[in-house]
Amino acid sequence: MARTDLSIELTGLALENPAILAAGVLGTTGSSLKRIADSGAGAVVTKSIGIEPKPGHPNPTMFKLGCGFLNAMGLPNPSYKEFRGELITAREGGVPVIASVFGAHPDEFSQIITGLDGADAYELNVSCPHASGYGAAVGTDPVLVTEITKAAKQAANAPVWVKLTPNVTDIVEIGEAAQKGGADAVVAINTVRGMAIDIHSGYPILGNRFGGLSGAAIHPVAVKCVYDLYQALDIPVIGVGGIANYQDVVEMMMAGACAVQIGSAVYDSINIFNEVTAGLARYLADNSMELDDIIGMAHRKVGR
Ligand SMILES: Cc1cc2nc3c(=O)[nH]c(=O)nc-3n(C[C@H](O)[C@H](O)[C@H](O)COP(=O)(O)O)c2cc1C
Repeated sequence: MARTDLSIELTGLALENPAILAAGVLGTTGSSLKRIADSGAGAVVTKSIGIEPKPGHPNPTMFKLGCGFLNAMGLPNPSYKEFRGELITAREGGVPVIASVFGAHPDEFSQIITGLDGADAYELNVSCPHASGYGAAVGTDPVLVTEITKAAKQAANAPVWVKLTPNVTDIVEIGEAAQKGGADAVVAINTVRGMAIDIHSGYPILGNRFGGLSGAAIHPVAVKCVYDLYQALDIPVIGVGGIANYQDVVEMMMAGACAVQIGSAVYDSINIFNEVTAGLARYLADNSMELDDIIGMAHRKVGR
């Protein structure tokens, strides 16, 4: 039997399948990005890259919970100048490489994007919940999000995706601000602000005291954000948050995602991309459907 076609066109990029590596997980070196490409990902996103080298927050930076992970890495990265070589290596993986970039204001985003020429697309991290002055510190202000997106679009000769934070009253307002700035797609969601305390010592566990929650715990939050964004926006929505199997992919697509990203589940299985795409292909074949049939299905079912 012919394998169900999972290939998609996403903001002008050709992907063999819609399962993408999320930013920040095994994305700091070109060779690890290549390894994920070889493990069946349709595209890979790099660790978020900034202007200057950054060591990140003190340890512990990551903590496993029963329902996911808490992390406060603090955007450690070698700077865009040092990352150029990694990008070249990553592209040998043969799948689109999306450079995730972060900055404090529009000019910084422009500078990094110009300096990191050669990525297949750029993902603007305006959503990290635990880096002072960056990420969600800029991504909760709709005016700034529009300005940053405009500046990025001017600097980039590739599509620009904007990654949104759920740590706002209304994620749709921020999605609309990105669309207004000319974003080619939005990515939802980054981690949800959270904290854990060691009951034996009374100390917060993370070196930064608080961090971002990812994994199974945030999946329903991500599904709701994607559902709302799909309804309000004209640009594609890429869904991320707690995806660990093909059923999660199908659900996220029914909410309106045309592609998904996977982060935390990679820690359990590097083969997760092959697993979810095989399951997705089987699901579509068993139900005599194509990808387009499931994208946004939940909206059509309830008639809005
Ligand atoms: C250890 C770790 C590091 C992360 N670093 C970044 C990052 O550098 N930039 C970014 O935009 N998101 C980062 N994220 C967020 C993920 O890309 C993703 O949005 C989030 O983890 C939800 O997806 P998941 O539940 O599949 O992990 C990080 C997540 C984790 C767990």
